[in-house]
Amino acid sequence: MERRNKFVVVLASAFLFLVQSLLSTTCALHRDHFPPSFLFGTSTSAYQIEGAYQEGNKSLSNWDVFTHSQGMSFCIIHTCLFWFFHCAGGKIKDGSNGDVAADHYHIYMEDIGLMHSLGINSYRFSISWSRILPRGRYGKINPAGIAFYNNLIDSLLLRGIEPFVTLTHYDIPQELEDRYGAWLSPKIQKDFGYFAEVCFSKFGDRVKFWSTFNEPQMMVKNGYGTGEYPPMHRNKEFIAGHNAILSHATAVEIYRKRYQVKQQGMIGIVIFMCWFEPLRNNSLDFLAAQQVMSFQAAWFLDPIIHGDYPPEMRQALGSKLPTFSIKERRKLQYKLDFIGINHYTSLYVRDCTFSPCKSSRNIDESFIYTERNGIPIGKPTAMPNYYVVPYGIEEVVLYTMRRYNNTPMFITENGYAQSSNSSMTELLNDNDRVDSMRQYLTYLNNAMRKGADVRGYFVWSLIDNFEWLYGYTMRFGLHYVDYNTQKRAPKLSARWYEQFLHGVEVQHEHEQVDMI
Ligand code: NOJ
Repeated sequence: MERRNKFVVVLASAFLFLVQSLLSTTCALHRDHFPPSFLFGTSTSAYQIEGAYQEGNKSLSNWDVFTHSQGMSFCIIHTCLFWFFHCAGGKIKDGSNGDVAADHYHIYMEDIGLMHSLGINSYRFSISWSRILPRGRYGKINPAGIAFYNNLIDSLLLRGIEPFVTLTHYDIPQELEDRYGAWLSPKIQKDFGYFAEVCFSKFGDRVKFWSTFNEPQMMVKNGYGTGEYPPMHRNKEFIAGHNAILSHATAVEIYRKRYQVKQQGMIGIVIFMCWFEPLRNNSLDFLAAQQVMSFQAAWFLDPIIHGDYPPEMRQALGSKLPTFSIKERRKLQYKLDFIGINHYTSLYVRDCTFSPCKSSRNIDESFIYTERNGIPIGKPTAMPNYYVVPYGIEEVVLYTMRRYNNTPMFITENGYAQSSNSSMTELLNDNDRVDSMRQYLTYLNNAMRKGADVRGYFVWSLIDNFEWLYGYTMRFGLHYVDYNTQKRAPKLSARWYEQFLHGVEVQHEHEQVDMI
Protein backbone atom coordinates (compact mmCIF):
# COMPACT_ATOMS: atom_id res chain seq x y z
CA MET A 1 0.00 0.00 0.00
CA GLU A 2 2.76 2.37 1.05
CA ARG A 3 4.64 1.63 -2.16
CA ARG A 4 1.49 2.43 -4.14
CA ASN A 5 1.13 5.77 -2.35
CA LYS A 6 4.71 6.63 -3.07
CA PHE A 7 4.17 5.77 -6.69
CA VAL A 8 1.08 8.02 -6.84
CA VAL A 9 3.01 10.89 -5.25
CA VAL A 10 5.88 10.50 -7.71
CA LEU A 11 3.45 10.33 -10.60
CA ALA A 12 1.53 13.38 -9.40
CA SER A 13 4.74 15.39 -8.94
CA ALA A 14 5.92 14.43 -12.41
CA PHE A 15 2.56 15.48 -13.82
CA LEU A 16 2.64 18.82 -11.97
CA PHE A 17 6.16 19.48 -13.16
CA LEU A 18 5.12 18.72 -16.73
CA VAL A 19 2.14 21.06 -16.48
CA GLN A 20 4.30 23.78 -14.96
CA SER A 21 6.97 23.47 -17.64
CA LEU A 22 4.33 23.48 -20.34
CA LEU A 23 2.71 26.54 -18.82
CA SER A 24 5.99 28.40 -18.56
CA THR A 25 6.86 27.75 -22.19
CA THR A 26 3.46 28.17 -23.81
CA CYS A 27 1.67 30.54 -21.43
CA ALA A 28 1.06 33.89 -23.06
CA LEU A 29 2.41 36.94 -21.37
CA HIS A 30 -0.28 38.74 -19.43
CA ARG A 31 -0.54 42.11 -17.71
CA ASP A 32 -1.66 40.27 -14.58
CA HIS A 33 1.77 38.68 -14.27
CA PHE A 34 2.87 42.11 -13.00
CA PRO A 35 1.51 43.86 -9.90
CA PRO A 36 -1.38 46.32 -10.45
CA SER A 37 0.80 49.20 -9.21
CA PHE A 38 3.53 48.36 -11.76
CA LEU A 39 4.38 51.31 -14.00
CA PHE A 40 4.13 50.51 -17.68
CA GLY A 41 5.28 53.39 -19.84
CA THR A 42 7.28 54.77 -22.69
CA SER A 43 10.44 56.90 -22.58
CA THR A 44 11.71 59.90 -24.49
CA SER A 45 14.17 62.74 -23.92
CA ALA A 46 13.98 66.47 -24.53
CA TYR A 47 16.67 66.91 -27.18
CA GLN A 48 15.55 63.83 -29.08
CA ILE A 49 11.90 64.86 -29.56
CA GLU A 50 11.13 68.46 -28.59
CA GLY A 51 12.61 70.52 -31.42
CA ALA A 52 11.77 74.26 -31.01
CA TYR A 53 15.42 74.76 -30.21
CA GLN A 54 15.20 78.53 -30.24
CA GLU A 55 11.65 79.05 -29.08
CA GLY A 56 10.19 80.13 -25.77
CA ASN A 57 13.40 81.90 -24.73
CA LYS A 58 15.33 78.67 -24.65
CA SER A 59 19.09 79.10 -24.89
CA LEU A 60 21.41 76.90 -26.91
CA SER A 61 22.34 73.62 -25.33
CA ASN A 62 25.61 71.76 -25.75
CA TRP A 63 23.85 69.49 -28.28
CA ASP A 64 22.53 72.43 -30.29
CA VAL A 65 26.04 73.81 -30.58
CA PHE A 66 27.58 70.44 -31.28
CA THR A 67 25.16 69.42 -34.04
CA HIS A 68 25.47 72.84 -35.66
CA SER A 69 29.21 72.60 -35.96
CA GLN A 70 29.37 69.59 -38.23
CA GLY A 71 32.96 70.11 -39.29
CA MET A 72 35.37 67.43 -38.25
CA SER A 73 34.64 63.88 -39.11
CA PHE A 74 33.46 61.67 -36.34
CA CYS A 75 34.44 58.11 -35.89
CA ILE A 76 33.02 55.42 -33.66
CA ILE A 77 30.05 54.76 -31.58
CA HIS A 78 29.93 53.00 -28.30
CA THR A 79 28.24 49.97 -27.06
CA CYS A 80 28.56 48.98 -23.46
CA LEU A 81 31.85 50.74 -22.84
CA PHE A 82 33.48 49.23 -25.85
CA TRP A 83 34.20 51.33 -28.86
CA PHE A 84 33.40 50.10 -32.33
CA PHE A 85 34.72 52.22 -35.17
CA HIS A 86 32.17 53.68 -37.48
CA CYS A 87 33.33 56.73 -39.41
CA ALA A 88 31.29 59.32 -41.30
CA GLY A 89 31.72 62.76 -42.81
CA GLY A 90 30.20 64.86 -40.03
CA LYS A 91 29.57 64.37 -36.36
CA ILE A 92 26.04 63.15 -36.95
CA LYS A 93 25.70 60.34 -39.45
CA ASP A 94 23.09 62.05 -41.63
CA GLY A 95 24.28 65.59 -40.87
CA SER A 96 21.06 66.27 -38.98
CA ASN A 97 20.24 67.87 -35.64
CA GLY A 98 17.43 68.22 -33.09
CA ASP A 99 16.26 71.68 -34.22
CA VAL A 100 12.83 70.32 -35.09
CA ALA A 101 13.16 66.64 -34.17
CA ALA A 102 9.63 65.22 -33.69
CA ASP A 103 8.28 68.70 -32.95
CA HIS A 104 6.90 67.48 -29.64
CA TYR A 105 7.15 71.01 -28.18
CA HIS A 106 4.27 72.02 -30.42
CA ILE A 107 2.28 68.82 -30.63
CA TYR A 108 2.75 67.31 -27.19
CA MET A 109 -1.03 67.07 -26.74
CA GLU A 110 -1.22 64.77 -29.72
CA ASP A 111 1.57 62.68 -28.25
CA ILE A 112 -0.28 62.44 -24.96
CA GLY A 113 -3.24 61.19 -27.01
CA LEU A 114 -0.99 58.39 -28.34
CA MET A 115 0.04 57.51 -24.81
CA HIS A 116 -3.57 57.41 -23.73
CA SER A 117 -4.47 55.06 -26.58
CA LEU A 118 -1.64 52.76 -25.58
CA GLY A 119 -3.02 52.65 -22.06
CA ILE A 120 0.30 53.40 -20.34
CA ASN A 121 0.15 54.65 -16.76
CA SER A 122 3.49 56.48 -16.79
CA TYR A 123 5.58 58.54 -19.18
CA ARG A 124 9.30 59.11 -18.81
CA PHE A 125 10.65 62.31 -20.30
CA SER A 126 13.49 64.70 -19.58
CA ILE A 127 13.56 68.41 -18.92
CA SER A 128 15.60 70.63 -21.18
CA TRP A 129 17.80 72.51 -18.71
CA SER A 130 18.34 75.33 -21.20
CA ARG A 131 14.57 75.83 -21.50
CA ILE A 132 14.17 76.27 -17.75
CA LEU A 133 17.43 78.06 -16.95
CA PRO A 134 18.84 79.43 -20.20
CA ARG A 135 21.93 80.73 -18.38
CA GLY A 136 22.15 78.19 -15.59
CA ARG A 137 22.31 79.93 -12.23
CA TYR A 138 23.77 83.02 -13.91
CA GLY A 139 20.38 84.19 -15.20
CA LYS A 140 16.69 84.09 -14.49
CA ILE A 141 14.21 81.23 -14.46
CA ASN A 142 12.44 81.17 -17.83
CA PRO A 143 8.63 81.36 -17.34
CA ALA A 144 7.96 79.99 -20.85
CA GLY A 145 10.00 76.88 -20.08
CA ILE A 146 8.23 76.37 -16.77
CA ALA A 147 4.87 76.82 -18.52
CA PHE A 148 5.69 74.19 -21.15
CA TYR A 149 6.51 71.51 -18.59
CA ASN A 150 3.60 72.54 -16.36
CA ASN A 151 1.23 72.04 -19.27
CA LEU A 152 2.82 68.73 -20.16
CA ILE A 153 2.64 67.44 -16.58
CA ASP A 154 -0.93 68.64 -16.05
CA SER A 155 -2.12 67.15 -19.32
CA LEU A 156 -0.47 63.81 -18.50
CA LEU A 157 -2.09 63.69 -15.09
CA LEU A 158 -5.49 64.52 -16.57
CA ARG A 159 -5.12 61.34 -18.64
CA GLY A 160 -4.04 59.31 -15.61
CA ILE A 161 -0.41 59.15 -16.73
CA GLU A 162 2.25 59.49 -14.04
CA PRO A 163 5.17 61.76 -15.04
CA PHE A 164 8.58 60.10 -14.53
CA VAL A 165 11.07 62.90 -14.97
CA THR A 166 14.78 62.88 -15.81
CA LEU A 167 16.60 66.08 -14.89
CA THR A 168 19.33 65.77 -17.46
CA HIS A 169 19.49 63.48 -20.46
CA TYR A 170 22.87 64.63 -21.92
CA ASP A 171 21.81 68.21 -22.77
CA ILE A 172 22.95 71.18 -20.65
CA PRO A 173 23.02 74.96 -21.25
CA GLN A 174 26.04 75.76 -23.42
CA GLU A 175 26.83 78.67 -21.12
CA LEU A 176 27.97 76.25 -18.42
CA GLU A 177 30.39 74.71 -20.87
CA ASP A 178 31.71 78.10 -21.95
CA ARG A 179 32.05 79.45 -18.42
CA TYR A 180 33.81 76.63 -16.63
CA GLY A 181 33.95 73.46 -18.73
CA ALA A 182 30.71 71.93 -17.44
CA TRP A 183 31.24 68.46 -15.90
CA LEU A 184 34.99 69.00 -15.63
CA SER A 185 34.50 71.59 -12.92
CA PRO A 186 33.14 71.09 -9.40
CA LYS A 187 31.12 74.27 -10.08
CA ILE A 188 28.65 72.17 -12.02
CA GLN A 189 27.52 70.59 -8.74
CA LYS A 190 26.11 73.92 -7.62
CA ASP A 191 24.47 74.55 -10.97
CA PHE A 192 22.93 71.09 -11.08
CA GLY A 193 21.68 71.47 -7.51
CA TYR A 194 20.12 74.82 -8.42
CA PHE A 195 18.45 73.39 -11.54
CA ALA A 196 17.17 70.39 -9.56
CA GLU A 197 15.76 72.66 -6.88
CA VAL A 198 13.94 74.81 -9.44
CA CYS A 199 12.37 71.63 -10.85
CA PHE A 200 11.41 70.23 -7.43
CA SER A 201 9.85 73.51 -6.39
CA LYS A 202 7.96 74.12 -9.64
CA PHE A 203 6.89 70.58 -10.52
CA GLY A 204 7.42 68.41 -7.45
CA ASP A 205 3.86 68.88 -6.19
CA ARG A 206 2.84 66.66 -9.14
CA VAL A 207 5.99 64.73 -10.10
CA LYS A 208 6.61 61.73 -7.85
CA PHE A 209 9.48 60.10 -9.74
CA TRP A 210 12.74 61.95 -10.35
CA SER A 211 15.95 60.70 -11.89
CA THR A 212 18.94 62.95 -11.64
CA PHE A 213 20.78 61.63 -14.70
CA ASN A 214 20.20 59.49 -17.72
CA GLU A 215 23.16 57.21 -18.41
CA PRO A 216 25.87 59.38 -16.85
CA GLN A 217 28.43 56.75 -17.93
CA MET A 218 27.63 57.38 -21.58
CA MET A 219 27.55 61.13 -21.08
CA VAL A 220 31.03 61.24 -19.59
CA LYS A 221 32.55 58.37 -21.54
CA ASN A 222 31.50 59.76 -24.91
CA GLY A 223 31.82 63.44 -24.06
CA TYR A 224 35.01 63.33 -21.99
CA GLY A 225 36.66 59.98 -22.72
CA THR A 226 36.54 59.39 -26.46
CA GLY A 227 35.31 62.81 -27.54
CA GLU A 228 32.38 61.64 -29.66
CA TYR A 229 29.75 63.68 -27.82
CA PRO A 230 30.00 67.31 -26.81
CA PRO A 231 32.26 68.81 -25.54
CA MET A 232 34.57 66.33 -27.30
CA HIS A 233 37.23 65.97 -24.64
CA ARG A 234 39.40 62.92 -24.35
CA ASN A 235 40.72 60.95 -21.40
CA LYS A 236 38.91 63.00 -18.80
CA GLU A 237 35.93 60.77 -18.13
CA PHE A 238 36.77 59.95 -14.53
CA ILE A 239 36.91 63.54 -13.37
CA ALA A 240 33.69 64.35 -15.25
CA GLY A 241 32.11 61.24 -13.74
CA HIS A 242 33.23 62.32 -10.26
CA ASN A 243 31.45 65.66 -10.66
CA ALA A 244 28.34 63.95 -12.01
CA ILE A 245 28.21 61.60 -9.00
CA LEU A 246 28.56 64.56 -6.64
CA SER A 247 25.96 66.51 -8.59
CA HIS A 248 23.56 63.61 -8.13
CA ALA A 249 24.34 63.70 -4.40
CA THR A 250 23.76 67.47 -4.30
CA ALA A 251 20.32 67.14 -5.89
CA VAL A 252 19.33 64.25 -3.63
CA GLU A 253 20.44 66.15 -0.54
CA ILE A 254 18.24 69.10 -1.56
CA TYR A 255 15.30 66.81 -2.28
CA ARG A 256 15.63 64.92 0.98
CA LYS A 257 16.05 68.03 3.13
CA ARG A 258 13.51 70.37 1.58
CA TYR A 259 11.00 68.52 -0.58
CA GLN A 260 10.66 64.81 -0.10
CA VAL A 261 8.65 64.77 3.12
CA LYS A 262 6.12 67.20 1.71
CA GLN A 263 6.05 65.94 -1.86
CA GLN A 264 6.31 62.23 -1.10
CA GLY A 265 8.25 61.30 -4.23
CA MET A 266 11.20 59.05 -5.04
CA ILE A 267 14.56 60.07 -6.50
CA GLY A 268 17.05 57.86 -8.31
CA ILE A 269 19.45 57.65 -11.22
CA VAL A 270 19.24 55.90 -14.61
CA ILE A 271 22.17 53.69 -15.57
CA PHE A 272 23.04 52.04 -18.88
CA MET A 273 23.44 48.34 -18.25
CA CYS A 274 24.34 45.61 -20.71
CA TRP A 275 24.80 42.04 -19.62
CA PHE A 276 28.27 40.55 -20.15
CA GLU A 277 28.77 36.84 -20.71
CA PRO A 278 32.20 35.18 -20.48
CA LEU A 279 33.29 34.32 -24.02
CA ARG A 280 35.00 31.11 -22.99
CA ASN A 281 34.04 28.79 -20.19
CA ASN A 282 36.97 29.65 -17.95
CA SER A 283 37.56 31.65 -14.81
CA LEU A 284 39.61 34.36 -16.55
CA ASP A 285 36.76 35.31 -18.85
CA PHE A 286 34.32 34.99 -16.00
CA LEU A 287 36.34 37.49 -13.95
CA ALA A 288 36.75 39.73 -16.98
CA ALA A 289 32.97 39.82 -17.47
CA GLN A 290 32.49 40.76 -13.82
CA GLN A 291 35.10 43.47 -14.16
CA VAL A 292 33.39 45.00 -17.18
CA MET A 293 30.12 45.09 -15.23
CA SER A 294 31.91 47.09 -12.52
CA PHE A 295 33.33 49.57 -15.01
CA GLN A 296 29.88 50.03 -16.44
CA ALA A 297 27.24 50.19 -13.70
CA ALA A 298 29.14 50.03 -10.42
CA TRP A 299 31.28 53.01 -11.46
CA PHE A 300 28.30 55.22 -10.57
CA LEU A 301 26.17 53.00 -8.37
CA ASP A 302 28.86 51.88 -5.92
CA PRO A 303 29.81 55.44 -4.82
CA ILE A 304 26.16 56.46 -4.57
CA ILE A 305 25.03 53.36 -2.68
CA HIS A 306 28.17 51.99 -1.01
CA GLY A 307 30.10 55.27 -0.64
CA ASP A 308 33.12 54.59 -2.88
CA TYR A 309 34.23 53.44 -6.32
CA PRO A 310 34.27 49.67 -6.88
CA PRO A 311 37.50 48.04 -5.69
CA GLU A 312 37.95 46.48 -9.17
CA MET A 313 38.12 49.95 -10.71
CA ARG A 314 40.44 51.30 -8.06
CA GLN A 315 42.76 48.39 -8.60
CA ALA A 316 42.82 48.76 -12.36
CA LEU A 317 42.99 52.55 -12.55
CA GLY A 318 44.98 53.55 -9.48
CA SER A 319 45.41 57.30 -9.24
CA LYS A 320 43.50 57.95 -12.49
CA LEU A 321 40.35 57.48 -10.42
CA PRO A 322 39.62 60.48 -8.16
CA THR A 323 39.12 59.94 -4.44
CA PHE A 324 36.23 61.26 -2.39
CA SER A 325 37.23 63.81 0.26
CA ILE A 326 35.66 63.61 3.71
CA LYS A 327 33.25 66.39 2.77
CA GLU A 328 32.31 64.63 -0.46
CA ARG A 329 31.79 61.34 1.38
CA ARG A 330 29.39 63.10 3.70
CA LYS A 331 27.40 64.20 0.68
CA LEU A 332 27.17 60.65 -0.60
CA GLN A 333 25.12 59.62 2.44
CA TYR A 334 21.91 60.70 0.67
CA LYS A 335 22.16 57.80 -1.81
CA LEU A 336 19.00 57.16 -3.87
CA ASP A 337 15.54 55.59 -3.71
CA PHE A 338 15.62 53.59 -6.93
CA ILE A 339 17.89 52.42 -9.70
CA GLY A 340 16.75 53.03 -13.27
CA ILE A 341 18.11 50.44 -15.71
CA ASN A 342 18.41 51.07 -19.43
CA HIS A 343 18.92 47.67 -20.95
CA TYR A 344 19.28 46.90 -24.64
CA THR A 345 21.81 44.14 -25.23
CA SER A 346 24.26 41.54 -23.97
CA LEU A 347 27.81 40.92 -25.17
CA TYR A 348 30.63 38.43 -24.67
CA VAL A 349 33.77 39.35 -22.76
CA ARG A 350 37.21 37.83 -23.08
CA ASP A 351 40.06 38.39 -20.67
CA CYS A 352 42.97 40.38 -22.05
CA THR A 353 45.03 40.81 -18.92
CA PHE A 354 46.40 37.31 -18.79
CA SER A 355 45.55 36.04 -22.26
CA PRO A 356 46.93 37.48 -25.49
CA CYS A 357 44.31 39.42 -27.45
CA LYS A 358 44.66 40.29 -31.10
CA SER A 359 42.76 43.55 -30.98
CA SER A 360 43.29 46.67 -28.94
CA ARG A 361 42.32 46.56 -25.31
CA ASN A 362 39.50 48.23 -23.58
CA ILE A 363 40.42 50.35 -20.56
CA ASP A 364 39.61 47.57 -18.14
CA GLU A 365 41.88 45.17 -20.02
CA SER A 366 39.07 43.03 -21.34
CA PHE A 367 37.78 42.59 -24.81
CA ILE A 368 34.24 42.44 -26.00
CA TYR A 369 32.82 40.19 -28.68
CA THR A 370 29.42 39.95 -30.31
CA GLU A 371 29.88 36.36 -31.52
CA ARG A 372 31.00 33.03 -30.16
CA ASN A 373 32.30 30.51 -32.71
CA GLY A 374 30.81 32.63 -35.47
CA ILE A 375 27.32 32.66 -33.92
CA PRO A 376 25.99 36.09 -32.87
CA ILE A 377 24.89 36.41 -29.25
CA GLY A 378 21.34 37.28 -30.37
CA LYS A 379 19.34 38.61 -33.26
CA PRO A 380 21.01 41.75 -34.62
CA THR A 381 19.12 45.06 -34.79
CA ALA A 382 19.77 48.23 -36.81
CA MET A 383 21.97 49.60 -34.02
CA PRO A 384 25.46 48.15 -34.39
CA ASN A 385 26.20 45.84 -31.49
CA TYR A 386 22.67 45.85 -30.10
CA TYR A 387 21.39 42.28 -30.20
CA VAL A 388 18.14 40.87 -28.92
CA VAL A 389 19.21 38.70 -25.98
CA PRO A 390 16.11 38.53 -23.78
CA TYR A 391 17.64 36.57 -20.88
CA GLY A 392 20.10 39.47 -20.42
CA ILE A 393 17.42 41.56 -18.74
CA GLU A 394 16.91 38.89 -16.09
CA GLU A 395 20.66 38.74 -15.51
CA VAL A 396 21.16 42.52 -15.13
CA VAL A 397 18.22 42.78 -12.78
CA LEU A 398 19.44 39.90 -10.62
CA TYR A 399 22.98 41.35 -10.64
CA THR A 400 21.61 44.72 -9.49
CA MET A 401 19.39 43.07 -6.91
CA ARG A 402 22.36 41.22 -5.38
CA ARG A 403 24.91 44.00 -5.51
CA TYR A 404 22.57 46.70 -4.19
CA ASN A 405 20.48 44.83 -1.68
CA ASN A 406 17.35 44.77 -3.80
CA THR A 407 17.00 48.53 -4.07
CA PRO A 408 13.75 49.23 -6.00
CA MET A 409 14.39 49.12 -9.74
CA PHE A 410 12.66 50.43 -12.85
CA ILE A 411 13.52 49.34 -16.37
CA THR A 412 13.65 52.90 -17.64
CA GLU A 413 14.50 51.90 -21.23
CA ASN A 414 14.31 48.79 -23.36
CA GLY A 415 13.83 49.02 -27.08
CA TYR A 416 14.54 47.87 -30.59
CA ALA A 417 16.18 49.79 -33.46
CA GLN A 418 14.94 49.66 -37.06
CA SER A 419 16.86 51.12 -39.96
CA SER A 420 15.16 54.12 -41.55
CA ASN A 421 16.13 52.61 -44.90
CA SER A 422 13.52 49.90 -44.52
CA SER A 423 10.30 50.03 -46.51
CA MET A 424 7.24 51.63 -45.01
CA THR A 425 5.53 48.25 -44.74
CA GLU A 426 8.50 46.88 -42.82
CA LEU A 427 8.66 49.90 -40.54
CA LEU A 428 4.99 49.69 -39.62
CA ASN A 429 4.89 45.91 -39.35
CA ASP A 430 7.63 45.74 -36.75
CA ASN A 431 7.20 42.11 -35.83
CA ASP A 432 10.77 41.86 -34.60
CA ARG A 433 10.17 44.66 -32.11
CA VAL A 434 7.03 42.91 -30.87
CA ASP A 435 8.93 39.64 -30.42
CA SER A 436 11.70 41.48 -28.62
CA MET A 437 9.33 43.28 -26.21
CA ARG A 438 7.38 40.15 -25.44
CA GLN A 439 10.50 38.14 -24.72
CA TYR A 440 12.21 40.84 -22.65
CA LEU A 441 9.06 41.26 -20.56
CA THR A 442 8.88 37.52 -20.01
CA TYR A 443 12.46 37.40 -18.70
CA LEU A 444 11.89 40.51 -16.62
CA ASN A 445 8.97 38.71 -15.05
CA ASN A 446 11.25 35.75 -14.27
CA ALA A 447 13.58 38.07 -12.36
CA MET A 448 10.63 39.42 -10.40
CA ARG A 449 9.50 35.89 -9.54
CA LYS A 450 12.98 35.34 -8.15
CA GLY A 451 12.44 38.25 -5.78
CA ALA A 452 13.73 41.32 -7.65
CA ASP A 453 11.91 44.48 -6.61
CA VAL A 454 11.18 45.84 -10.09
CA ARG A 455 8.45 48.46 -10.17
CA GLY A 456 8.16 49.54 -13.78
CA TYR A 457 9.06 49.04 -17.43
CA PHE A 458 9.37 51.79 -20.06
CA VAL A 459 9.71 51.14 -23.78
CA TRP A 460 12.18 53.27 -25.67
CA SER A 461 10.51 55.00 -27.34
CA LEU A 462 7.03 56.47 -27.68
CA ILE A 463 7.84 57.87 -31.13
CA ASP A 464 10.73 57.73 -33.61
CA ASN A 465 13.27 60.41 -32.76
CA PHE A 466 16.76 61.88 -33.12
CA GLU A 467 19.18 59.08 -32.23
CA TRP A 468 22.27 61.11 -31.24
CA LEU A 469 25.23 60.35 -33.53
CA TYR A 470 22.93 58.32 -35.81
CA GLY A 471 20.55 61.23 -36.38
CA TYR A 472 17.36 60.01 -38.03
CA THR A 473 18.91 56.96 -39.65
CA MET A 474 17.30 54.63 -37.15
CA ARG A 475 13.93 54.35 -35.52
CA PHE A 476 13.08 53.17 -32.01
CA GLY A 477 9.45 54.35 -31.85
CA LEU A 478 6.27 52.44 -31.18
CA HIS A 479 4.89 55.14 -33.46
CA TYR A 480 6.31 56.00 -36.83
CA VAL A 481 7.08 59.69 -37.40
CA ASP A 482 6.99 61.24 -40.84
CA TYR A 483 9.52 64.05 -40.32
CA ASN A 484 8.15 66.05 -43.27
CA THR A 485 4.61 66.29 -41.98
CA GLN A 486 5.18 65.35 -38.33
CA LYS A 487 2.35 62.85 -38.66
CA ARG A 488 2.52 59.87 -36.33
CA ALA A 489 1.29 56.36 -37.12
CA PRO A 490 1.10 53.43 -34.70
CA LYS A 491 3.32 50.51 -35.60
CA LEU A 492 2.28 46.94 -34.89
CA SER A 493 4.27 47.16 -31.66
CA ALA A 494 2.02 50.00 -30.45
CA ARG A 495 -1.02 47.79 -31.06
CA TRP A 496 0.68 44.89 -29.30
CA TYR A 497 1.60 47.00 -26.24
CA GLU A 498 -1.92 48.39 -26.13
CA GLN A 499 -3.46 44.92 -26.16
CA PHE A 500 -1.05 43.72 -23.53
CA LEU A 501 -1.81 46.69 -21.29
CA HIS A 502 -5.51 46.15 -21.72
CA GLY A 503 -5.14 42.64 -20.40
CA VAL A 504 -5.55 40.77 -23.66
CA GLU A 505 -3.65 37.46 -23.78
CA VAL A 506 -1.05 38.31 -26.34
CA GLN A 507 0.26 35.36 -28.29
CA HIS A 508 1.84 37.33 -31.09
CA GLU A 509 0.79 36.20 -34.53
CA HIS A 510 2.57 38.55 -36.89
CA GLU A 511 -0.47 40.50 -38.05
CA GLN A 512 -0.44 43.44 -40.47
CA VAL A 513 -1.01 47.15 -39.95
CA ASP A 514 -2.03 49.38 -42.83
CA MET A 515 0.16 51.98 -44.42
CA ILE A 516 -0.48 55.59 -43.49
C1 NOJ B 1 19.72 55.17 -24.35
C2 NOJ B 1 19.58 56.65 -24.32
O1 NOJ B 1 19.14 57.05 -23.07
C3 NOJ B 1 18.64 57.18 -25.39
O2 NOJ B 1 18.80 58.55 -25.44
C4 NOJ B 1 18.94 56.50 -26.71
O3 NOJ B 1 18.17 57.04 -27.72
C5 NOJ B 1 18.68 55.02 -26.54
N1 NOJ B 1 19.62 54.51 -25.58
C6 NOJ B 1 18.84 54.22 -27.82
O4 NOJ B 1 20.16 54.20 -28.21
